[in-house]
Amino acid sequence: MKKEKAFIFDLDGVIVDTAKYHFLAWRNLANSLGFEFTEEQNELLKGVSRVKSLEILLKIGNVELTEDKKQTLLIQKNTEYLQYVNKMTAEEILPGINELLDFLDQNNIKYALGSASKNAPLILEKVGLLNRFTAIVDGNDVSKAKPDPEVFLIGAQKLNMKPEDCIVVEDAIAGVEAANAANMLSIGIGDAEVLKEADYVLSDTTGFTTDFIQKILN
Ligand code: G6P
Ligand code: MG
Repeated sequence: MKKEKAFIFDLDGVIVDTAKYHFLAWRNLANSLGFEFTEEQNELLKGVSRVKSLEILLKIGNVELTEDKKQTLLIQKNTEYLQYVNKMTAEEILPGINELLDFLDQNNIKYALGSASKNAPLILEKVGLLNRFTAIVDGNDVSKAKPDPEVFLIGAQKLNMKPEDCIVVEDAIAGVEAANAANMLSIGIGDAEVLKEADYVLSDTTGFTTDFIQKILN
C-alpha cells in the first residue's frame, strides 16, 4: 500500500493572491510617510509577518519611528487591508486550486493551512474554503516566523502526520526554506530561479495536473 501523505498549503500567493491588497495598503502607508513604495519592493514582503514587513518598509523609506507610532501604523495598514479582504469572493481562488482540493478530498488526502497571516481564517471564510481544511495554523499560532519550520511542524501535528509525509506548497523563499527545515517535500509556486531550493517548482497553480500530483504522491 502507498504511504499516506498530507498537504500543507501557504495561503497568500498559493490559494489566493492577496499580495496585491497588501501592496496597496503598504504603498498608501509609505506615501503618507512621504516616500514611494514599488511593486518590486513589495516582493520583499511576501511571506514576511506584518511586524517584520513594517520594519522593511521603514528601512526602504529611511524612516525611524517610536514603538507607539509603529503600533498605530500596523493597525492603520491592517484596517485598509481588511477593506479589500472583506470584498473577496470565491472568484479569487487561484486557478487549479479548487480542482486540486477536490482531487485531495476524493482520494482521502488530508490538508492543512500553514500561513504567516493573522487574517488567514477570515480570508478563507471570504472565499468559502474555511471548512475544507482539516487544520489551520496561522500567524496567531506561531512564535517563530518562516523560515523557521514551526508553522509547518504544528500543521503536521494537527494532521497527525509525520513531517516527512507532508508536502508543502509555498510561493515565498522563506516558506520553501521553512518546509525544507521541517523535513517536508517542498513545492514552490513561482520563478524556478528564485525558488531554487524547492524540491519541485511550478510557475503557477495551474501546474497541479493529475499527472503531477500522482508523481509527487509516489
Ligand atoms: C503572508 C503574506 C505576507 C504578510 C503576512 C502577514 O505571509 O505573504 O505578505 O505580511 O502573511 O499577514 P497579515 O494578514 O497577518 O498582515
Ligand atoms: Mg505566500
